[in-house]
Amino acid sequence: MLVYVEGLYKPFKPIKRMVKAYFKGLVLEVLDGVYVPREDTELLAETLDVKNVNVLDVGTGSGALALFAAKTARHVTGVDIDPQAVVCATKNAELNGVTNVTFVESDLFERVRGRFDVIAFNPPYLPVTDAWESRTWNGGANGRETIERFAKGLGEHLAPKGHALVLVSSLTGLEETKKLFVDRGFHVAVAREKKIMWETLYVLRIVHKD
Ligand SMILES: C[S@@+](CC[C@H](N)C(=O)[O-])C[C@H]1O[C@@H](n2cnc3c(N)ncnc32)[C@H](O)[C@@H]1O
Repeated sequence: MLVYVEGLYKPFKPIKRMVKAYFKGLVLEVLDGVYVPREDTELLAETLDVKNVNVLDVGTGSGALALFAAKTARHVTGVDIDPQAVVCATKNAELNGVTNVTFVESDLFERVRGRFDVIAFNPPYLPVTDAWESRTWNGGANGRETIERFAKGLGEHLAPKGHALVLVSSLTGLEETKKLFVDRGFHVAVAREKKIMWETLYVLRIVHKD
């Protein structure tokens, strides 16, 4: 269950909004411009099974998924292209007393080293024609631009027996998105789905083909 409380992040000019989100037992302070956890975050969290494994959370935003995963994982690395998100997630780790997590500014896998048992990604997945739209949801003209780049880098960072969980929407194109991974030698299945207002959300479970 998500609950939001809005507050002011800085009392004097420039005034910035800070949203307090309650997410699965975590209290998160979400800085202006950083993605506030929503149904998609929640659906992905509910699909995570990360007991005593190493996890990579790509596009970590407020750190919601990374900090939730850290409750049972051995260690979690969270990356985001947005430096403000990395500041926000790091602060949220402190606020919640989570120590088995590291946040790094990175364009997808650019600054990621090694392989992970579980890789989670709630990407910008909406088709958007205006390049100035927020990169928290801007998936480019077809909604799949960032996911396609992620698919290209995944093989190098997913452990041989590991799996990736990627959130997409019916607006992203389910079959077209699956094909991005299948074409790169992965097996893909829908692990979970949920119909919301005008779209259906899917969590894709992606593994290396044998
Ligand atoms: C839909 S939000 C998800 C945030 C958070 N994981 C959640 O579920 O609440 C997408 C996130 O991906 C980040 N992002 C967008 N493009 C990225 C890229 N190329 N590399 C890393 N992160 C990226 C955005 O800054 C944003 O924080």
